[in-house]
Amino acid sequence: MALTQVSVAFSGAVALREASVSIAPGARLGIVGESGCGKSMLGLCLMGMVPDAAQVTGSIRLNGQELAGAPERVWRRHRARDVAMIFQEPMAALNPLKRVGETVMEPLMIHEGLSRPAARARALALFEEVGLPDPAASLRQYPHEISGGQRQRVLIALALACDPGLLVADEPTTALDANVALRIIELLVRLSKSRNMALVFISHDLAAVSRATEQMLVMYGGDIVERGPTAQVLAAPRHPYTQGLLGARPGLENRGRTPDGRRKRLVTIPGTVPPLFDLPQGCRFSGRCGQEFAPCARHRPQPTALGGGQEAACHLLSPLHAGRGAA
Ligand SMILES: Nc1ncnc2c1ncn2[C@@H]1O[C@H](COP(=O)(O)OP(=O)(O)OP(=O)(O)O)[C@@H](O)[C@H]1O
Ligand SMILES: [Mg+2]
Repeated sequence: MALTQVSVAFSGAVALREASVSIAPGARLGIVGESGCGKSMLGLCLMGMVPDAAQVTGSIRLNGQELAGAPERVWRRHRARDVAMIFQEPMAALNPLKRVGETVMEPLMIHEGLSRPAARARALALFEEVGLPDPAASLRQYPHEISGGQRQRVLIALALACDPGLLVADEPTTALDANVALRIIELLVRLSKSRNMALVFISHDLAAVSRATEQMLVMYGGDIVERGPTAQVLAAPRHPYTQGLLGARPGLENRGRTPDGRRKRLVTIPGTVPPLFDLPQGCRFSGRCGQEFAPCARHRPQPTALGGGQEAACHLLSPLHAGRGAA
């Protein structure tokens, strides 16, 4: 139902390189990778909401319809119904001056043509469905009057309002305490199952991705470097970048928090992600990899099938180069 082969560039700097993704109805797909690797950009492509400065090429198909390059008025017909998104900045999505009930009722009146009472009844049902403790009272509250976890539930209700076939959740648990995050993940999985709604779950937290998804993508420098069944990729990562990320995986006991309680980022691979315009032409990870050999910097590795639906784009794994690397 969602199918992409999409590239995004900013003044020639490539932020997403032929990202090919296929999401079946009801599927749950995780996207992981360090900051700046293109996770949100891929989500925004599915929403038709890339920044104005972006040049988008390739294909973005929703329910069989090609939407890459489609004008805003066409995207608007698909947004909210075929695809909805929970954005990375949760407060930005809620108008502080508006009761949260109004915020959820608005798209129902605009997109679905519901009357005010009908929209209110639907909003109430949605608030119940997302597990807000007192749905009727919640409708009347302002964003600052509710907790972070409850705000996230309101945003999920907002995303569900027009019954989308696909929900893109961009770091939906990042700002939350571990326990609250867990409840939100359970909610997203339950909703995906009960509504047969596909879920794209973007996160830095590998434990969260492991709980929320069945399939996962690993991104680096705008490339999808590895993909496969979540449990399999986490148990046996094959791309050196994924192996690095998993090596950086926080222990379950501290669940992604530093000792002073801040969230730990998965950046303990030596070095940092170079700026977009400085990324190598071949394997984006060359220069940081530590296992590279002759072709890496110059030639882009193609995905190699590794069995069980897992694949990774690394010259070390390619049959052509097998055994030539440092590994
Ligand atoms: N408006 C813009 N102009 C230029 N470059 C941009 C713009 N928006 C995003 N980018 C670049 O696109 C790349 C991908 O960004 P994206 O937001 O998708 O990263 P991300 O993986 O979601 O990171 P994070 O984990 O920090 O959310 C980054 O290098 C970013 O700097
Ligand atoms: Mg992001």
